[in-house]
Amino acid sequence: MAISRVSGFFKLSVEERLNFITNELKFNEEEKNLLLGLTPFPIKTASSMIENAVGLMPIPLGIATNFKINGKDRFIPMATEEPSVVAAASNAAKAAYEKGGFFTSLSGSIMRGQIQVLDIADPYAAMARIYEKKDKILEICNAKDPTLTSLGGGAIDIEVNVIKATNQSMLVIHLLVDTRDAMGANAVNTMAEAVAPFIETVTSGRVVLRIISNLADRRLARARAVFSAEQLGGTAIVKNIVSAFEFAEYDPYRAVTHNKGIMNGISAVVLATGNDTRAVEAGAHAYASVSGRYRSLTKWEINQDGDLSGSIELPMAVGIVGGATKSHPIARLALKVLDINSAEDLAGSIAAVGLAQNLAAMRALAAEGIQKGHMALHARNLAMMAGANENEIDQIVQQAVKEKDVRYDRILDLTKQIQMGVVNGK
Ligand code: MEV
Repeated sequence: MAISRVSGFFKLSVEERLNFITNELKFNEEEKNLLLGLTPFPIKTASSMIENAVGLMPIPLGIATNFKINGKDRFIPMATEEPSVVAAASNAAKAAYEKGGFFTSLSGSIMRGQIQVLDIADPYAAMARIYEKKDKILEICNAKDPTLTSLGGGAIDIEVNVIKATNQSMLVIHLLVDTRDAMGANAVNTMAEAVAPFIETVTSGRVVLRIISNLADRRLARARAVFSAEQLGGTAIVKNIVSAFEFAEYDPYRAVTHNKGIMNGISAVVLATGNDTRAVEAGAHAYASVSGRYRSLTKWEINQDGDLSGSIELPMAVGIVGGATKSHPIARLALKVLDINSAEDLAGSIAAVGLAQNLAAMRALAAEGIQKGHMALHARNLAMMAGANENEIDQIVQQAVKEKDVRYDRILDLTKQIQMGVVNGK
């Protein structure tokens, strides 16, 4: 089993990091070349994924280290354009590693499909008629997806609501579909469309919308971990972190930024594995509001040993079969990096990354502030923009950070000076 606890991974060159991962995960040459961009992503694949494709938009893929999830070490693939995210997740995971790492669970793999029915004379009686026909409704749905039912999934139940809108009443039928290892949007939407004519017959109404709901509240991923107070910098910082959480829990202006930080980690893994970032993000933010007020997706407490105990719960509609998870060669590789065999494991691992990401942000905010960590990475980006080569970048970054002057014009100055052989001059 690969050991994810790696120190100084960030100090290695790209080639050294890739060699390390390639050895640990037994990647072949072809897979290695794919990551390096030496085997280009086929434009034909891009063109079959979306319409009007004209090219590709590369996003860096990083690997977060130090994650132990349910007793197993995992490397975490993260696709993101934002500096500091991968390093922050790895750092936070380090503080959990020695306390046993992350433990996760999933409430199920059930997605909801919604069917909206209008123009019903007697919506409450129609609701009762729909419940009487539940078995027939499920039968029609399941006939549409024998593969899913053969894998133990399929439509399993219904829920019906009457919505009293300002100008009309409508009936909304929820199909509850166990989508197993698939995200499930295709399966659910197909079933909702297939059963609509029967729903119209039973209700004597008119079906309009037939679509999945991204508020996947029957597919909640949970993760928890204990983070060493000592590694976080001591009791005072731990207390500040809990206060930072309470700030988010009670103030939506803070909560939305706090949750954005969580999604920095979550969306990066969702994207890397070819899953639908928008579906997960919409579900997460809706779930943050289910109490009637927008709150933190995480909870933070100090445990009996004085360590920081964190937990997270949020909808996690991700799959490991279907869509880009299979058609995108790098997404397939990302699942291999994670060593994942089920959507349940993937969902739990993603929740764990969200928890780690949140801790890293709060730790920085509660101690030295967020800018210090950002500064070196920002300087690195600017140095690249200024035309510095690999050998010059470190020197420029060090100087700019030392001067606390990470502006493009200063970095450009330093780049020119270093290229002309003038070092450390200001
Ligand atoms: C920046 O991308 C994310 C943070 O703003 C999150 C937070 O404030 O908790 C640092």
